[in-house]
Amino acid sequence: MTEPVRVGLLGIGTVGSGTYRVLERNRAEIARRAGRRIEIAWVCARDRERARGIVGPGVPVVDDAVGAVADPATEIVVEAIGGTGIAKDAVIAAIEHGKHVVTANKALLALHGNEIFAAASARGVMIAFEAAVAGCIPTIKVLREGLVANRIEWIAGIVNGTSNFILSEMRAKGLPFAEVLAEAQRLGYAEADPTFDVEGIDAAHKMSLLAAIGFGIPVQFTRAHVEGITGITDKDVSYAEKLGYRIKLLGIARRTPEGIELRVHPTLIPATRLIANVEGPTNAILIKGDAAGVTLYQGAGAGSEPTASAVIADIVDVTRLMRAEPQERVPHLAFQADALSDIPILPMADVETSYYLRVRVKDQVGVLADLARALADAGISIDSMLQQGAGDDENETDIVILTHQTRERNFDAAIARVVELPSVSGDYTRIRREDLL
Ligand code: HSE
Repeated sequence: MTEPVRVGLLGIGTVGSGTYRVLERNRAEIARRAGRRIEIAWVCARDRERARGIVGPGVPVVDDAVGAVADPATEIVVEAIGGTGIAKDAVIAAIEHGKHVVTANKALLALHGNEIFAAASARGVMIAFEAAVAGCIPTIKVLREGLVANRIEWIAGIVNGTSNFILSEMRAKGLPFAEVLAEAQRLGYAEADPTFDVEGIDAAHKMSLLAAIGFGIPVQFTRAHVEGITGITDKDVSYAEKLGYRIKLLGIARRTPEGIELRVHPTLIPATRLIANVEGPTNAILIKGDAAGVTLYQGAGAGSEPTASAVIADIVDVTRLMRAEPQERVPHLAFQADALSDIPILPMADVETSYYLRVRVKDQVGVLADLARALADAGISIDSMLQQGAGDDENETDIVILTHQTRERNFDAAIARVVELPSVSGDYTRIRREDLL
């Protein structure tokens, strides 16, 4: 076997330590696949004392990320620091020094990916980022290679484990949002700042990468429509179930004749779909290609060793391809850099979907007719309806309406009318609905 490939590891937290551990444990098996041994050349950590407790005695531990990546003997740098501060400086420095980079950093690539990919291409190095999207699931591999024959029509995924855990627990145990969030944090699923999870930002980071790879467009996180799960009540979860649906935080990237939909929001999915039954912190992604039809991928979306699984897959890929001419490698965004398209991202107002609308109303004559009128005037057709109990106040009731497809701008117009109705208390929830067929 030729000499080992030397890998520098930036960060020894959840992802870094998992990578170190799995590389050690499966060392022989991985070398048999890669054709070279993978050797950790150095580890860079803020807390060197803590790092020393994780890595073997022969591995140097340093604390200057930008300095470490200059090491002439290092061929691959694994960035497992996270965030967009030091991680960005270190990745840019690594590229400048001609190192290939493997990263799990979705925020970094969602915000600065276009610049980073351009710099890497100019320097002839690879940026591999399987671990940035959906943990262990090889989604990037699937889109860039497995489905390369297809015109991708849409991608829809549960790509934030924390939100999926919260929604699953709310449904299974009838618990309110805040209580389950605290549990998710205790179990360590949530990002350092859980806002990223529950407000849909983490999912949108991932979906902007998937959209870029699926459709051959630049990474456009700032154009994504992003809504999280903080407004979902246990009541909505239970009404959705009565109507035959589950609520999931779904990321959707869809090609339409007018542009690309790029959106993250809570979504009603028919309970009979496999993806609707993906529970807990698990991720799942559906991809529809014109030739393959719909394919489904499921697995752990976070965690030390599941994420390490994807990081190491990238290390092996890079090891195999680093001797190839840059033009013979798989392009960063699946499409050749000079063949990216400028198809626009569709404004949310132009997106067509159907809706779940729950309104709290006074239980009196004509209320339903008023609601139906507001929807009809906006050109929206009602699919089905549920009127549910009085709750605490016998004079009030919840009305839940499922609509047929309409444009978001029509629904916005209808909602503006509905909240002004004297019989409506102002408390309402709107959740988009997708069939995923
Ligand atoms: N906080 C993320 C999640 C971790 O909950 O899915 C993986 O990106």
